[in-house]
Amino acid sequence: MASIDTASLLDWTYRLSNVGYIVAAVLFLAALSGLSKPETARRGNAFGIAGMAVAVVIAIFQALVTADTKPDTHFSPLITLILIAVAIGIGGVIGITRARSVAMTGMPQLIALFNGLVGLGAIFIGFNSYIFAEDVAPDALKFHFGEVYIGVFIGAVTFTGSIVAGLKLSEKIKGSPLLLPGRNALNIAILVVTLVLLAVFIATGTEGGTIAWACMVAVTALGLFLGWHLVIAIGGGDMPVVVSIMNSYSGWAAAFTGLMLGNPLLIITGALVGSSGAYLSYIMCEAMNRSFANVILGGFGSEATSASAVEGSHTEVNHEDTAEILRNADKILIAPGYGMAVAQAQYAVADLVRNLRADGKEVVFGIHPVAGRLPGHMNVLLAEAKVPYDIVLELDEVNDDFADVDVTLVIGANDTVNPMAEQPGSPIAGMPVLKVWESERVIVLKRSMGSGYSGVQNPLFFNENTDMLIGDAKASIDSLNRILADSKVNA
Ligand code: TAP
Repeated sequence: MASIDTASLLDWTYRLSNVGYIVAAVLFLAALSGLSKPETARRGNAFGIAGMAVAVVIAIFQALVTADTKPDTHFSPLITLILIAVAIGIGGVIGITRARSVAMTGMPQLIALFNGLVGLGAIFIGFNSYIFAEDVAPDALKFHFGEVYIGVFIGAVTFTGSIVAGLKLSEKIKGSPLLLPGRNALNIAILVVTLVLLAVFIATGTEGGTIAWACMVAVTALGLFLGWHLVIAIGGGDMPVVVSIMNSYSGWAAAFTGLMLGNPLLIITGALVGSSGAYLSYIMCEAMNRSFANVILGGFGSEATSASAVEGSHTEVNHEDTAEILRNADKILIAPGYGMAVAQAQYAVADLVRNLRADGKEVVFGIHPVAGRLPGHMNVLLAEAKVPYDIVLELDEVNDDFADVDVTLVIGANDTVNPMAEQPGSPIAGMPVLKVWESERVIVLKRSMGSGYSGVQNPLFFNENTDMLIGDAKASIDSLNRILADSKVNA
């Protein structure tokens, strides 16, 4: 490398990197588009991996060129390469081990952890960019300090917010909201102080003196506290929405990191993650008929939410009767919910569907957009159990056709099939729900008469055409599969 003139080497690096950035950005867009449908999700993931591989190769290439052209301030290319290899090695081993061992139900916690790491990265890079700002043109320094300050703040909020969300999701800390007195005023005061310190930091940053350093330390502390305080006030059940919001923040933190480093790909990727995370949070809130503010202000899904009592008596069926009912049905709809994930019943359900379809029955799934606890939760479980995509239908695709359904099996779902959503004034009023009660017969598989995530009792269980099959969903479906198989052998 030494024989090439330094200026032209830097120029070539810049040009080649830009070509690589465009390729990586297109691959990331293809990844997002692929991830929007279960059929193309694997391909989308492959595009994402390819885009990230291109980005990493460019980053290594740039680091080596910088090391070669600036020997006074950087390690040698060999040492740089070794350091990068060690970092990728450690991160890769931790990432692969965690990703391979995580259960589907633990996925939101893992995502929370990853978001937190992006936030922590933004804090480190912010401090680094403040200390080593010698490449920034003097007239752009104040702008650069603004990027650094905002990036560190968003990173710090994302870091502690994600850690608290992860701890609540994994039940390592209490899920109920911790509501400090005057908490909204406290949050606003933190934002105001942060803005004032931003002005002080920009004004004093160039001198690198005590005041500027105090601003950097203060904004980090304020961001860390705000992240903790925002999320600790939200009920455990709302954590998936919070994780999605934190995912969005981590994107914006990455975008600001890109601004600090002058890296266009990081800006593009950060903006993609930031906006798609925000949009996903919006979709989740819409499907629960909640506003962002309602989630962020907390309290829902907590002990404070009152469980409304429903009068009436319910009827129960046993496994044999249920198997008989299924044998006599032509069209069966399955409405799965969070309980199917808890019971890990997806493989048993897939077997049941195969058996019923082999007997000539029409079987489809009706998937509510917020069934379970993370977006696409049911789709992922059913895909894992190799249920054909074409029988997994969305709420809009099935909701007008329940009158044609002979039997609806509600497997561990509750809020998403609760007719109380149609009653003005109920806590879930306005939430779109699967109108399972319009089918000829409904069988609900769950362990008790207890309510779901919202704490609202479900009058569906007391309807005349509803029977309860009480027990763990996997045990019940395994039993149904055995009875159906035995009856075939004996036929
Ligand atoms: P839920 O309303 O949460 O009800 C799940 C039911 O599953 C419970 O009533 C429980 O009853 C039953 N269950 C638990 N373990 C079981 C097991 N091993 N076997 C059989 N049943 C079991 O579920 P849903 O209908 O899927 O609704 C999801 C709720 O979560 C909605 O309120 C939604 O707004 C909320 N939420 C969703 C998301 C996303 S993105 N999906 C994010 C945040 C919040 P028993 O205890 O009696 O068994």
